[in-house]
Amino acid sequence: MPFTLHRHLLSEQRAFLGRDRRAWGDHLLRARAWLGEGLASAPKDRPCLILGAGWGLEVPWSLAPPETWGWDADPLSRVGTLLRHRRWAPWVYEDFTGRLRELSRAARRCARDERVGRRRDPVLAARRLAGILPSFSPTGEPLRAWVEAHRPGAIVVANVLGQLGPVAQALIQRAFRPINPFELPDEASEVLAEALDLWTAAAVRAVLKVLSESGAEVCLLHDRGVAWGDAAPRPLGPWRDPWVAQLPLGHWEVSDALGDVEVGACFADSHEVRARERWWWPVGPGQLHLVEAWRLGAFPSHPGEPR
Ligand SMILES: C[S@@+](CC[C@H](N)C(=O)[O-])C[C@H]1O[C@@H](n2cnc3c(N)ncnc32)[C@H](O)[C@@H]1O
Repeated sequence: MPFTLHRHLLSEQRAFLGRDRRAWGDHLLRARAWLGEGLASAPKDRPCLILGAGWGLEVPWSLAPPETWGWDADPLSRVGTLLRHRRWAPWVYEDFTGRLRELSRAARRCARDERVGRRRDPVLAARRLAGILPSFSPTGEPLRAWVEAHRPGAIVVANVLGQLGPVAQALIQRAFRPINPFELPDEASEVLAEALDLWTAAAVRAVLKVLSESGAEVCLLHDRGVAWGDAAPRPLGPWRDPWVAQLPLGHWEVSDALGDVEVGACFADSHEVRARERWWWPVGPGQLHLVEAWRLGAFPSHPGEPR
C-alpha cells in the first residue's frame, strides 16, 4: 500500500490544480518571476534543487540550470512537470522532513487499537498524540543527506515551507477519520493544535537550518500566513517583522503558516539578504494568503561552503 503521504499529496495537488484560479493571475506572475530569477541566477556548473517542485505551475523550468533536480513527494509531480515543461528532470520523491511516515503511523496507533480494529476514545487519543508529537520532530535528515551528496549551488524552495503544518494536520485527521480530533468538544483539541504548532515550528527550523548550512544560494517563496477579515486585499505597508505588523489597519484574524519562525533570523549568520518581498494571494473568498519571498546569497566564509 502506498504511504498515506503520497496519496494525500496527490489528491491535494489535483485539488490545487482544479481550483478556480482566475483571481490568482497576479500571484502566479510574481511567483514565476521570483522563482525564475532564482533559477536564472543559479550557478550553471553545479547542481540546483527545486524543493516542492510540484507539477511546475509556479516554476519556469526553462530558466533552470542543466543539472536541476526536482523534489516532490507527489508521485505524479515528475510526469506533471514533463507534460507542462517538456523537461524530464532527475527527481526525489521522499518526504524531505523525514518524519511524516512515523507521525502518520503514531497518529493511527493513537486513534485505533489496531489489534482489535477498534477506535479509541478520541479525547484520550488526541491527548496522547499531543504528548508524543515532540518525539517526531523533523531534523530534515533526507534533505541534509542529499545536500551533502550533491553540493548544490542553489536551492529554490517553491511554496512548500508553509505546507509542512497543514500536511501533518491532514495526516493526523486521516488517522482519526471520521472524527476530526481538532474539533472535539473538549480542550484536548486545543492541546493537540498547540502541539502541532510546536511540531511545525520545529520542522520549519530544521529545514531552514539545513538550507543555511548548505553553502548554496537560497531562493524561498512560501505562505507566511493566512488572514481573514477583508474580502479584497488592500495595499500592504513597508516590510515589517513580525509579518502581522505589516498588515493594513483593520480587524484581522490571522494564522501563521511557519509556527512563528522568523526566516531572516535563521540565515543571519550564513547568508546576506539580496531581496525580499511580501504580497497578497487571494486563494478563495475572504481568505487572503500573505506570500513571503526571499533571495539569499551565501557568505563565502561560511563553514557550510562546499569544499
Ligand atoms: C503548494 S505545492 C507547490 C506547487 C509547485 N511549486 C508548483 O509549481 O506546482 C507544495 C508541494 O510540496 C509537496 N510537498 C509537501 N510536503 C512535502 C514533503 N514533506 N516532502 C516532499 N514534498 C512535499 C507537495 O506534493 C506539493 O506538490
